[in-house]
Amino acid sequence: MSISQIARSIKPSPTLALNEKAAILREKGDPVIHLGGGEPKSKAPMDAIIAAASNLNTGEIRYAPADGIPALKQAIIRYTEEHYKRKVAPENVMASGGAKQAIMVALQTILNPQEEVIFPAPYWVSYPDMVKLCGAIPVPAHPEDGSFYPRIQDIEMRVGSYTKAVIINSPNNPSGVMYSEEFIADVVDFCEKKELYLIMDDIYHRLLFDGKKPINVYDYAKDKTENSKLIVINGVSKMYAMTGFRIGWAVANKKIIASMTNIQGHQTSGPSVLLQKAAVGALNGIQSCVENLRVTLENNRNVLIARLKSFEGVKVYPPDGTFYTFADFSAYERDSTKLSNLLIDKVQVLTVPGIEFGLEGFLRLSFCGGIKDITEGIERIKWVLDLNSPNELYIGDRKLVRDWA
Ligand SMILES: Cc1ncc(COP(=O)(O)O)c(C=O)c1O
Repeated sequence: MSISQIARSIKPSPTLALNEKAAILREKGDPVIHLGGGEPKSKAPMDAIIAAASNLNTGEIRYAPADGIPALKQAIIRYTEEHYKRKVAPENVMASGGAKQAIMVALQTILNPQEEVIFPAPYWVSYPDMVKLCGAIPVPAHPEDGSFYPRIQDIEMRVGSYTKAVIINSPNNPSGVMYSEEFIADVVDFCEKKELYLIMDDIYHRLLFDGKKPINVYDYAKDKTENSKLIVINGVSKMYAMTGFRIGWAVANKKIIASMTNIQGHQTSGPSVLLQKAAVGALNGIQSCVENLRVTLENNRNVLIARLKSFEGVKVYPPDGTFYTFADFSAYERDSTKLSNLLIDKVQVLTVPGIEFGLEGFLRLSFCGGIKDITEGIERIKWVLDLNSPNELYIGDRKLVRDWA
């Protein structure tokens, strides 16, 4: 059977595959601990539920404008004013099926085949494949100093005549680090000077710890006109614990949004109106849920990091935000896929191999679950890796016996 070159070049999403694996193991009755997840466990805000339920009750769920219902656009405009101090028009906004679709459609709007997109490594798993879906070429930028904090030189040295765009995600999935203001300022300035598109993936922008405040990319943009090539991505998935609702958005110049809307109109006709209503409820409703989630995550982070630090062989980089940490396990095993599989096979703890984010030897551990999962998950990992641990481990009434060296 013949499938396209592009389809052949695309890998399955490793994080979605992991969710499926967790579900299958759970169904079998295995005592799985999912430290690979990418969604908060709290419930969606009540305002979102009420808004969607009352729409559903009308029984009239119809087609909607491809770029989003006016009420959602208004809510996004208000959000942009409140959190970015930026006034935008409805024509500057497109709602989408999650931040993922907003990024994908933005890439389809700006890229020609063979053009290049640069993003710092470690990077979100989907960026390379999204770029490839456009027939374009992903160019990961590994910080030269080996840290998780890129400098503008790391971007600069990869720019060539085919470079079309830069994607920045801060705080970052998987490392959890927030890039410095200096770097954001430099990258905005650099993209403006080189006339490159800058896609700012802000999906975690308010999930920050230790009193850190979100960085507003517009503060550094000199071009405030409709020629600006800045595309800001956001959504309700992470901050409002609404991953399954699939609502995200893009804010950009009117021409880009008009083209994005054309593309999205042919792809999906835009996101479901029912779920857009839910997002309106969340964005216009009581906002304490975001801060409550942030506080819970900060506490979870503290517990996870303290436990991880007790491993002799793990290098820990405490995250500034998100709900992930990216820890260096290479002292135990350099092949992160092998290590991740070992942890599933031996103690049913799911983690994401670092190689999926562009760095071998690391594992991404999530702290978006409960404290019990975090502490027990780490205890099980330690049992597998630490050769000084006892020969046996009990998970409930299951006895596990070490059968590896
Ligand atoms: C960095 C980053 N961008 C975008 C997304 C996609 O978000 P959504 O679920 O709204 O599509 C994710 C989800 O994991 C992410 O981590």
